[in-house]
Amino acid sequence: METRTRTLFLAISYLFMFSFVCFVKGSLSFNFYAASCPSAELIIRDTVNSFSSTDPSIPGKLLRLVFHDCFVEGCDASLMLQGNNTEQSDPGNRSVGGFSVIDSAKRVIEKFCPGTVSCADIIAMAARDAVDIAGGPRIMIPTGRRDGMISLASNVRPNIVDTSFSMDEMVQLFATKGLSLLDLVVLSGAHTIGTAHCSSFRDRFEEDSRGKLMLADKTLDSDYAEVLMEQCPSGVQPSVKVNNDPQTSLVFDNMYYQNLLAHKGLFQSDSVLISNDSTRILVEDFANDQDLFFQNWAQSFLKLTTVGVKSGDVGEIRISCASTNA
Ligand code: HEM
Repeated sequence: METRTRTLFLAISYLFMFSFVCFVKGSLSFNFYAASCPSAELIIRDTVNSFSSTDPSIPGKLLRLVFHDCFVEGCDASLMLQGNNTEQSDPGNRSVGGFSVIDSAKRVIEKFCPGTVSCADIIAMAARDAVDIAGGPRIMIPTGRRDGMISLASNVRPNIVDTSFSMDEMVQLFATKGLSLLDLVVLSGAHTIGTAHCSSFRDRFEEDSRGKLMLADKTLDSDYAEVLMEQCPSGVQPSVKVNNDPQTSLVFDNMYYQNLLAHKGLFQSDSVLISNDSTRILVEDFANDQDLFFQNWAQSFLKLTTVGVKSGDVGEIRISCASTNA
């Protein structure tokens, strides 16, 4: 794609984004809690800060948590609900974490402003703060989400992307959430932080007759594949994890895109972003220009955190994030 076409593509995306924000503002607003709970944002930020200072894996967990919450039933904290057959019990959510951070922030907020701040807003703001704390862009997001009443394990599979998905399958699923191809490339940049279990990229390797792993997916850099096979040999404990970004896994930067170009995308669903011309060009842009990635992140994150939000009379403000009020 020529530079001019690329610029036009990004300009159209911004225009779309602008109209989207105007639409969303009807139900959500900036500083929604300014009068009803002015300390909410500060409490959430302090909580994320304090948890992250003792456990640096927290930002990655919170960022994945918002993605899995928003894609199933919208951004409504349905993923926080505990019980038989709730979203948490689906295997697709087994390794999602960060719940204790949200619960902790909610407990403090309930003391200052009971029944006012939704768990859905806490999840969105905590993920926003997590990115900032990890060195990413500091952004404002509108609030006013309400908490959902439905959480079903059976809703998870059809709504969460699997690492085996093709580009078309990912684009289609994102489109059902109102997210574009550009959003897919930008939001996948979240894999610049955090970790993954060996099982999540096992499909890129096969076992030889002696049970030794061999690289099956030749799109993966062979040196990187060697490192992964050392970290995740055949028969490895299921709890073993590797860094998504082998170099700066705790820093929210544009290394994800540089890794992709070096054929070091951890998941098959990461690597496909460079096998398609229209996404590869975006990957190159973000790999070359971190500011451009950050600007786009602000827009796409805003869109992600407004997927299917509940407002007005729909839903409720939960007292405890783990259960509905009734
Ligand atoms: C586009 C398709 C995507 C696929 C197929 C995918 C898949 C995965 C998988 C398999 C893991 C590893 C889980 C584990 O083994 O513990 C992971 C981790 C992660 N994902 Fe994604 N993901 C996608 C998009 C996203 C998006 C849009 C975000 C957020 C905006 C995100 C944020 C994360 C983060 C931060 C981690 C690390 C979690 C941690 O450290 O605990 N992912 N993802």
